[in-house]
Amino acid sequence: MNLSDYFYLCGVNADLRNIAPLESSIERLFEKRSRIQKGRPLPSASVNRIRDDFAMEWTYNSNSIEGNTLSLRETIMVLKDGITIGGKSLREHFEAINHEKAIDYLYSIVNSKYVLRSIDILNLHGLVMKNIEDEFAGRIRNGAVRIVGANFTPPNASRVSDLLDELIEYINTNPQGLNDVLLATVFHHKLVWIHPFFDGNGRTVRLAMNLLLIRTGFPPAIILKNDRKKYYDALNTANKGDYSKLALLMIQALERSLNIYINAIPGNDETYELISNIVSEDQAPYGQEYISLLARQGKIDAYKEGRNWLTTRKAVEAYIEGRKRKRVVKKTK
Ligand SMILES: Nc1ncnc2c1ncn2[C@@H]1O[C@H](COP(=O)(O)OP(=O)(O)OP(=O)(O)O)[C@@H](O)[C@H]1O
Ligand SMILES: [Mg+2]
Repeated sequence: MNLSDYFYLCGVNADLRNIAPLESSIERLFEKRSRIQKGRPLPSASVNRIRDDFAMEWTYNSNSIEGNTLSLRETIMVLKDGITIGGKSLREHFEAINHEKAIDYLYSIVNSKYVLRSIDILNLHGLVMKNIEDEFAGRIRNGAVRIVGANFTPPNASRVSDLLDELIEYINTNPQGLNDVLLATVFHHKLVWIHPFFDGNGRTVRLAMNLLLIRTGFPPAIILKNDRKKYYDALNTANKGDYSKLALLMIQALERSLNIYINAIPGNDETYELISNIVSEDQAPYGQEYISLLARQGKIDAYKEGRNWLTTRKAVEAYIEGRKRKRVVKKTK
């Protein structure tokens, strides 16, 4: 089965042509991945620390997108110190604990030879929903669901099982030869499109897509709470067959995680700084606002921390250099 057959089954025509402008950004992710792989072994203390920090951030952000009101600090207190937070529901505590357990499970099954299986998706869901909705934890839905604010209705419950099998087959055969990043992007969207569960679909897919990334040597991509609106908009756009917005979000999420690893490589001489530290407001021709725009568009090496974009001096210089060269080429043509 090829992609268009699959999308036909799902009632949408996917058009991956819109992804072309993102190719250089994806290229950059692969370069960073190999830099990290070459820089190995990283000090084990840093690796453990980073993995642990990611687990906290991933848990906080994914649960928070879903409406959990624990802050990052509170999430860390619950998970690290076993403290209960006054005024927060038992459910919210379980969501944090469950999500961390699901991450542990994910790492226990993933390796470079990992092949996606539906049982793993069900198990992740089972862990996410444990003690919350035990009746449905780890089980595909047997009734209709709606996604509030979405521009479509998920498929009828009677089709879920077949669609899920087809999606997994599509991912494992990768008939279009998609790269690791796009494969995870398409999987992310198609799984929430099918919406196999009554609840917990978002959290489950944000775990499961990372199985696909981590098996190839990428760190986990963490969709940030701050990007929730953009994320939902990107999914609505993907429902129409245009993956450009979702791919950009995935690229940015991965780049942020990759940069955190790169910063841990001993002797690394590139530090990520606030754009305002690197260029001033009115620095011609590339001021702060322009560099921020390039960062948002994925055109320079940058990542977002909180509400701010960080980049390196080298990345800004390389971009300006590249522009100059392009201009010279144009003139001589
Ligand atoms: N327009 C949309 N099209 C497709 N999928 C969507 C759309 N809007 C949201 N989604 C997906 O549906 C998820 C919500 O589904 P559900 O409530 O079952 O999951 P959850 O884990 O409980 O919540 P959340 O996903 O918000 O954490 C979103 O996270 C997102 O991944
Ligand atoms: Mg929900």
